[in-house]
Amino acid sequence: MSLITLGIESSCDETGIALYQMGTGLLAHALHTQIAMHSEYGGVVPELASRDHVQRIVPLIRQVLHEGGVSLKQVDAIAYTQGPGLGGALLVGASVANALAFALDLPTIGIHHLEGHLLSPLLSDPAPEFPFVALLVSGGHTQLMRVDGVGEYQLLGETLDDAAGEAFDKSAKLLGLDYPGGAALAALAAQGHPNLYKLPRPMLHSGDFDFSFSGLKTAVLTLVRNSDDGPQTRADIAHAAQEAIIDVLAYKARAALAHTGLDQLVVAGGVGANRLLRERLTRDIEKRGGRVFYPDLEFCTDNGAMIAFAGALRLARQQGDKHYRFNVKARWNLQELNHAG
Ligand code: KG4
Ligand code: ZN
Repeated sequence: MSLITLGIESSCDETGIALYQMGTGLLAHALHTQIAMHSEYGGVVPELASRDHVQRIVPLIRQVLHEGGVSLKQVDAIAYTQGPGLGGALLVGASVANALAFALDLPTIGIHHLEGHLLSPLLSDPAPEFPFVALLVSGGHTQLMRVDGVGEYQLLGETLDDAAGEAFDKSAKLLGLDYPGGAALAALAAQGHPNLYKLPRPMLHSGDFDFSFSGLKTAVLTLVRNSDDGPQTRADIAHAAQEAIIDVLAYKARAALAHTGLDQLVVAGGVGANRLLRERLTRDIEKRGGRVFYPDLEFCTDNGAMIAFAGALRLARQQGDKHYRFNVKARWNLQELNHAG
């Protein structure tokens, strides 16, 4: 029987639990999102996030075991998000993972949240093969990475200020939409007319693979202040904001493929759920003979499946251990993983 890994994600505002079995695939997964709870405050409240993870995590583990038809005794290892993220929220997952593993005498493995996102397209069929370029676009990160294998990550470029997800969220907020706003802005943009407003494409021709989105937010703010607040105008501005973000992401992703000479692009992270971004990337890159891979929509945003999966791949490399520990890493550079192999 091949190994069964229980995966626990609790780095931000989603409690995600999953069971992954090598050779078989995903056995079960479940997610509780706290978006409704935080939206009242216009953003994630860390203390509330931690308390909610505490309440959700054990019932969700029970649910996933039940749905997967797996008893705790059949679990071979426990993977959890060790960072980066909110310290308190991470500690909830780390504590449950290590306590459970200690009680069951199982190995644990702490997973880097972004590695989870990076590898999540490998859960889909067809899956990309190493090496590939990854465009990682989440609420907190915008990075282009060369991926040669598990634990072989080379940063090509990243955002110098706001992430693409933040650019979506902040523009959405300026347009009066609820947090986290990315999907709502995309929906509003669909009602907008193209080419009415021209917003800046920061660093488009900087000649590297870095991004900057904070100027875009300022430009949206200026536009909102100087326009009427009718629904059509708001939709037109949303359209322009989305176009600007997508243009920059698509241009730099293409440039990264050209630079590395690779022909596969993997898109991961919450913004990867954006339909227009997907259409643009697929069109641009297939035209040049390349291929684009996306995680299934439900695995674009935070989830337990990507953590169980990354854990399974690392455990297959003998990287789990029984040194139970609670040293979560609120900040953690993905490239530190390269030394660990
Ligand atoms: O990866 P993720 O779930 O969380 C982090 O690890 O940060 O990404 C969340 C981000 C948010 O900024 C959210 O607004 C954005 O992904 N997002 C979208 C869409 N769905 C989620 N942005 C644009 N279009 C979407 N359809
Ligand atoms: Zn994430």
